[in-house]
Amino acid sequence: MDNKIEEIRKVFLEFFNKKKHRIIKESSLIPYNDQSLLFTNAGMNQFKEYFLGYKKPPYSRIVTIQKCIRMGGKHNDFNNVGFTNRHHTFFEMLGNFSFGDYFKKKAIFYAWELLTNSKWFNLKKKKLFITVYYQDMETYNIWHNLIGISKKNLILIKDKNNQKYNSDNFWQMSETGPCGPSTEIFYDLGDHLQGNIKNNSGNRFIEIWNIVFIQFNRTLDGKLIPLLIKSVDTGMGLERITSIIEKVDSNYKIYFFKKIIQKIADKINIKNINHNSLKVIADHIRSTIYLIAEGIIPNNEKRGYVLRKIIRRAINHGRILGTKELFFYKLVKIYIKYINNNEKIFLHKKIEYITKIIKNEEKKFNQIINLGIKLLNKELKKSEDNYLTGKQIFYLYDTFGLSPDLIENICIEKNININKKEFLKYMEIQRQKSQKNTLFKHKINIYDKNDISKFNGYDNFITYSKIINIYINNIAKQKIDLGEQGEIILNTTSFYGESGGQKGDIGFLEKDKKNIFQVYDTKKKGNIIIHIGKMILGSFKKNDYLYSKVDLIHRNMISKNHSATHLLHIILRNKFGTYIQQKGSLITNKYLRFDFTLNHSLKENDITYIEKKINDYIFDNISIKTYTKKIEEIKNQKDIIALFPNKYSSLVRIVKIDGLSQELCVGTHVTNTSKIGLFIITKYLNIANGIKRIHAITHNIALKYMQKQNTNIKYIANFFNTNEEFLIKNIISNKKKNDLLKKNFQELKQYFISKEINILLNNKILLHKKNIIISNIYNCNPIFLNFLLKKILKKLNKVIIILSTKWEKKIFFIFKISQNINNNINALDIIKRNLDKNVCNINGCDNIVQGNIDINIDKYYFILSKIRTYILNKINKLS
Ligand code: ALA
Repeated sequence: MDNKIEEIRKVFLEFFNKKKHRIIKESSLIPYNDQSLLFTNAGMNQFKEYFLGYKKPPYSRIVTIQKCIRMGGKHNDFNNVGFTNRHHTFFEMLGNFSFGDYFKKKAIFYAWELLTNSKWFNLKKKKLFITVYYQDMETYNIWHNLIGISKKNLILIKDKNNQKYNSDNFWQMSETGPCGPSTEIFYDLGDHLQGNIKNNSGNRFIEIWNIVFIQFNRTLDGKLIPLLIKSVDTGMGLERITSIIEKVDSNYKIYFFKKIIQKIADKINIKNINHNSLKVIADHIRSTIYLIAEGIIPNNEKRGYVLRKIIRRAINHGRILGTKELFFYKLVKIYIKYINNNEKIFLHKKIEYITKIIKNEEKKFNQIINLGIKLLNKELKKSEDNYLTGKQIFYLYDTFGLSPDLIENICIEKNININKKEFLKYMEIQRQKSQKNTLFKHKINIYDKNDISKFNGYDNFITYSKIINIYINNIAKQKIDLGEQGEIILNTTSFYGESGGQKGDIGFLEKDKKNIFQVYDTKKKGNIIIHIGKMILGSFKKNDYLYSKVDLIHRNMISKNHSATHLLHIILRNKFGTYIQQKGSLITNKYLRFDFTLNHSLKENDITYIEKKINDYIFDNISIKTYTKKIEEIKNQKDIIALFPNKYSSLVRIVKIDGLSQELCVGTHVTNTSKIGLFIITKYLNIANGIKRIHAITHNIALKYMQKQNTNIKYIANFFNTNEEFLIKNIISNKKKNDLLKKNFQELKQYFISKEINILLNNKILLHKKNIIISNIYNCNPIFLNFLLKKILKKLNKVIIILSTKWEKKIFFIFKISQNINNNINALDIIKRNLDKNVCNINGCDNIVQGNIDINIDKYYFILSKIRTYILNKINKLS
């Protein structure tokens, strides 16, 4: 069998390119700036703003091949993967798009030509079936009248549960966003197979192409708002169309997957290459590799959690196949062998890193799963009626990550029945709970979507601006009065709204010096910049003109920290390799924080190196400039760092540090490295598997920090009676001395205690089967009293102990009656009773009593003997 997958990619792009579509790079698997999606789930995601009319598309026709993940969210195929011929967690989507250009007719004609024309895919027309949304007769008629599809092959699909637009032929990207009716093309694999197009069931009909006519924006409240332009969004699963062209009946049988599955089977020594678990593993290694390559690491948060679930499911299926050792991480190298050159280049530098992350996760999970299996075996042994309840399965699944499939497999081997139905009930309860707590809650958008604010503050720190909206407590207002807190939107502003990790500006909005709004913070949301603050003088009305004045000291510090962040980024990449990826960044007026991927720890000399290098660049007085370019012009320039390299946007801004770095960035910067002044790393942390964090400070703050360090060092040197030069030597020798003293002390303590214990035990009184030790220890450090007490308690049963000592003009008693003596004797009570109130001021609790005492030694002994007599009498009475 030939490998057709590459050819199909090429032909698809070529066909649409011939039809005047611009070939655009796919976007990252992590959606950029889109809270409604966990992962890129379709080719159209990166164009969302074009569909919605928020941004003008640079081309009205585009074609892409997009990597997609369908996990967590509206389109989630996780549990199907491995058990059907078609589902994947990761797949590639071929798509052509029109933004207000062609619509239904052309979209359908293009699809038909590509699929059936002998110059292209050359599929047999009679094998193709079409579904259409039941209210979209225009589309129906195009297929029937213009293309000539017979009514038999043309099926209208209704809404489910009578809910409008709740249909397989009405597509939407997620709970909100662009959507519209669709028409789908199915391929008939033949009547020897079962299947029903109407509910897309069975194996006979494969849905190969979905053509969506985007017409609406679904908002949070469920409303469908008609869009100004009508667009086309299509998606064809690459693996599906490949299976048809390679004439196999499953995606997992195409050349590409077959090879990988065979290699996996060899690796884990499995003969039956049709085993579903092999499909699961082959699919999951793909998504795992790409998610880690995009910077996700397995953990318990959002995307990291999904990745963890994928890895764990694969390992569970490894167990089903009988693996005991780590195996999953070894598949990275196998997978890489079978991908195309572009992908190889993309993954090349990351292979080691990806392998390491998987290995760590696999190791950890292997330990958990081993515990789970042990517990399962225990439960199975206990089970008298050869039966495992749903609750038990859920517990094993929830606590140890044992998949129900694995549990079932183990149970089948041991002839034990399981209650899967009950298990599913528990799963459903959990699902409902987590839905309630979902992290992906949307904030209702209160802002007017027609508002646009222009940022005018790269070089101008005062701008003449007009108020276009005022919001108080999330409600649009005409006015904001003295003392009120609120949010003000201006048409144009000098204020930078928090974005790209850079904190927002602070400052004042001023009109005639009599009306002042103090801005505490500035945020950016879509096209608007929001000034958050309080009216501290006078009032403002909508449409007022004012001056937006940025606090320059605050802004300058932020700009210094931002430029320093770029220096840090490039130095890390230069030193450790370009696979280093920024994973997060915070730039404030006080410090900068930079998270990045690195698969080993930074050593102290690395930190010194980075710090020195950055300061060298600061001293070198290097100019920093910005310029804008069309993405097309720079996309092949490897030296430009782009955080979201695949995000498509027509014009991009580049910050260039002369001769050093170029980085896509919208933030504010200083114009010369010397303005950063000074750079100090204050903290280095390992925040997660493979992710490091650096905290650093610049300029005056760095200077102050250094001065403080200096003062501290001087103080410490003084304390140790030395000077800075010898300070370290001095501290080390002091530490050594201290360690020696500690050691000597321990030895002395041991000696003293064993000696004292012998004396105490020899002098004990045995009265009514109770051991009584009442003794003074001469000049003994009170902490020893406690040691002695513990030792005695270990050696004797049924004891009453009173130990006392006089130490540095204080008298200490320690008192204990073991629990197995029935008594009503209280330590404090006894001591108090027997001490002369006039000479002694004592306090204490439970079994330790201490007090200042100013008595001569005779009196002290007298008191002790009084206590002894009192206790002996009391014991005699009690017995
Ligand atoms: N966006 C459509 C889909 O993913 C084409 O099916």
